[in-house]
Amino acid sequence: MRVTASAPGKAILCGEHACVFGEPAVAMAINLRAKASAKLRKDELVHIVAKDIGASGYFEGKEFKSEVGGMEARLKLEPIQFAVEEVLRSARKVAGINLEVQSDIPIAVGLGSSAAVAVASATAASELLGLKMKKEDICSIAFRSERIVHINPSGIDNIISTYGGAILFRKGTEFLRLRIPVEFPLIVGDTRISRSTGEMVSFVKESKEKYPDVVEPILRSIGQLSERAAKALEKGNLEEFGEFMNINHELLSAIGVSNEFLDRLTHVARKAGALGAKLTGAGGGGCIIALALPDKVNSVMKAIEREGGSPFIVRKDDEGVRCWSEG
Ligand code: MEV
Repeated sequence: MRVTASAPGKAILCGEHACVFGEPAVAMAINLRAKASAKLRKDELVHIVAKDIGASGYFEGKEFKSEVGGMEARLKLEPIQFAVEEVLRSARKVAGINLEVQSDIPIAVGLGSSAAVAVASATAASELLGLKMKKEDICSIAFRSERIVHINPSGIDNIISTYGGAILFRKGTEFLRLRIPVEFPLIVGDTRISRSTGEMVSFVKESKEKYPDVVEPILRSIGQLSERAAKALEKGNLEEFGEFMNINHELLSAIGVSNEFLDRLTHVARKAGALGAKLTGAGGGGCIIALALPDKVNSVMKAIEREGGSPFIVRKDDEGVRCWSEG
């Protein structure tokens, strides 16, 4: 029997970085997914194939044998292996698993690919072993897997990928589901520059320690914006939400996580008629998101492309992780 699970990527609509320090943030699951397929093996190895990241190999406990991608493959596959091992530990089972991972979510550009892979992998392994783990346990495994990748994540990515929809998140508290009465396409502008979330988060932490009187009020303002952005979305007031996106981008820029490319993309998107545009995720590369009414979507996409970005449209995905089996 083969069990497959898929989990969505995400876009942070407001509040990234500030949420690491306990401020609220708004996130939305997007209709790009990571998929993990699991099958039992006759031995006790965990064999992982992740073609998208050019890595495959076997884990036997802590030992790793690379097949594709050399020893770098170990770093790429370890968070996935961790998720599978945690499931095996919960099952109190010694078993071997073949796991194949594939993702539509661009990697390391702020759209939550690593969390989606961890959520899908833990779910596929758990269903394969007949565990029927609760979503909250899957989410917690994915969070710990994310710590291997991002060092000090807030937990927003694994939550949105597990549960789907749109949420108001605050670290250490129950998240709030947002009911948004309007459908809207979100335009993503990918710089195709990958960067490390962990390093960007450490950079903000260092600035906060160096200039607490300056950086802390900015992070608090971002938190206030997230509260307002959540209310604007629940009222279906996209114009107001767009204004908050713009302010959020400039505040993120003030704490040093934007760059010239991201700034240019947000400016051309606004000039082409977007209601709002901001970087999304950790910044320093990665993507911007822009919100536009239907008659402006094409011109915003063209403007992003002219500026050297790679534009595509994503929509809200209300379904979190899902799972099915074959054979
Ligand atoms: C990453 O998607 C968003 C950050 O706020 C980090 C985090 O919340 O874990 C930059």
